[in-house]
Order: sequence, then C-alpha cells, then structure tokens
Amino acid sequence: MAAIAYVNGRYLPLRAASVNIEDRGFQFGDGIYEVLYVHNHHLADADLHLARLTRSLGEIGLRQPLAPAALRVIIREVLRRNRVSTGLVYMQITRGTARRDHPFPTIPVRPSLVITARPRPAPPADIASWAAAAITLPDERWARCDIKSTNLLPNVLARQQARLAGAYEAILYDSEGLITEGAASNVWIVDAAGTLRTRPLGPSILPGCTRAAVLELLRNADIPFAQTPFTLEALRTAREIFLTSATSFVKPITRLNGVSLGNGHPGPVATLLLEHYLQHLRAP
Ligand SMILES: Cc1ncc(COP(=O)(O)O)c(C=O)c1O
Repeated sequence: MAAIAYVNGRYLPLRAASVNIEDRGFQFGDGIYEVLYVHNHHLADADLHLARLTRSLGEIGLRQPLAPAALRVIIREVLRRNRVSTGLVYMQITRGTARRDHPFPTIPVRPSLVITARPRPAPPADIASWAAAAITLPDERWARCDIKSTNLLPNVLARQQARLAGAYEAILYDSEGLITEGAASNVWIVDAAGTLRTRPLGPSILPGCTRAAVLELLRNADIPFAQTPFTLEALRTAREIFLTSATSFVKPITRLNGVSLGNGHPGPVATLLLEHYLQHLRAP
C-alpha cells in the first residue's frame, strides 16, 4: 500500500506529494513542526503537542492555518489512510510559497501544511533492550531552542556525530558546561546524591511534551526531584541518565562517551518512569 501524505488540502501518494521549490520551509527553514506518537489509535499527549504547535507558530509570527480541532481531524484521516494504528505522525507548517526574500512576504501567502504518518513498533516490553548509548557535544544551536523550528542543521550534525560514534543521542552542553538537552530529546539524571534532575524550561531547551507528561507522573511517585541545571561533570558521575521524547518515551542511557555507566544496566528510576509512561500511553 502506497503511503499517503496530506499536503495543503489534498491527500496524495507520497511519491506525488510535493511543495513548491520557493516554499519558505525549503528556502529558509521558515517553519514549525511537531511529531506525535500514536499508540493503538490513541494520540499520545496530543493536547500538549497541539498547544506547543500553537505557541511555536505564535513565537515566529506565523498564522495557524487550521484550528487544533481541524488538525486532529486531518491527523486521524492521515492515520486511517495509511492504516497506522501505532506509529508516528509528522506535521509541518511553513510560511508558504513566495519569491525568495528574507523578510516575510508583503502580500500574505497561505502557510503550507504537510502531515504524514508511518508505522513504528509498539513500545518496548524489555527495558534492557531499550537502553542506548550517548555522546556529549557542545550545543551549537540558536538562542530560541524553545521554538520547535524546522531549522535543525545543528541537531542533524550532532545526531550524525552520535551515529558515527555508535551512539543513539548527542547530549549537548552550553558554554558554561551545563547540559541543555539532547539533539532530539530532553535529558534527565539521577545525580550522585540520588536526586532526579532535569533542566528547567527556558530558551535553551524545547519544552518536551514527554517531559511534561513525566513531570505529571512524578507527582504521584516518591522520588526526590528538582528542576535545576546540572553540569557535564554531574552527567558523567550520575547514577542514572535517561532521555524523554515522543518517540523514545523514557530511554535509559547506559553508555556515555564509550564508558559504561554504573553497572551498565538501566537504573530503577528510569525503569519505573518508563513503566509509568507506558501505562499512561495505554490508559491515558
Ligand atoms: C531538541 C528536542 N528536545 C526535546 C525533544 C522532546 O520533545 P517531545 O517529548 O515533545 O518529543 C525533542 C523532540 O523531538 C527535540 O527535538
């Protein structure tokens, strides 16, 4: 069955789906995107993702082409046409097509909206097989990482370096040696004193929807927790490291820069939070 994409009002086979070469997403990365996980027909944390989409669009002065309720209808239809019950949805909105010029088009143009979906395996049954390796790299991105912009070149380069090092993620640190986030995930540690920590929200990290969902789950868990920045050194000496994102859920990191962390197995906090998050996926 051919994959189907929604492109500006039409459902098209992927090979026939295209946007204009003067689309500002293609020319400038002048757009916003979202990735949602769908589990057994249920859109995980959909309210959070759609709210973040609205916020990101607002931050770059881009008109929301459709209300969140209408977007949900199209997402459902893309999932149905692709027969995806468990997988991911990709959604991109750009400032539309206009003669190439850096400032916004003077004559308003219609934003481009593209939505695709593809199947992905169900979440892991066995946490050990879900654990991964990470490397650390300086964060070379812009000063508004809270906006989910399609400008992902530094993230692409960081993930490529991770791949070349045989790792899943690149964990980024700022000029003060403080961890910001992963190239495509938020980062958490259980520090040497046993406190679970993640960087507070601000312009240098994406407000992850999975991060927000895990924070909510933590309300009912008896785990010492603080939203405080932490250093590269704290990462290196952490009892546990894990990542969160819509497609990696809660992902333990058991190797950092080629060195095994602790006993090399996922720790109890990551294990518990993955269990809770998977329950939340199954019974939202
Ligand atoms: C840079 C970055 N940080 C964090 C995340 C995690 O966000 P979410 O949990 O909403 O997927 C992502 C997701 O792709 C990301 O690209």
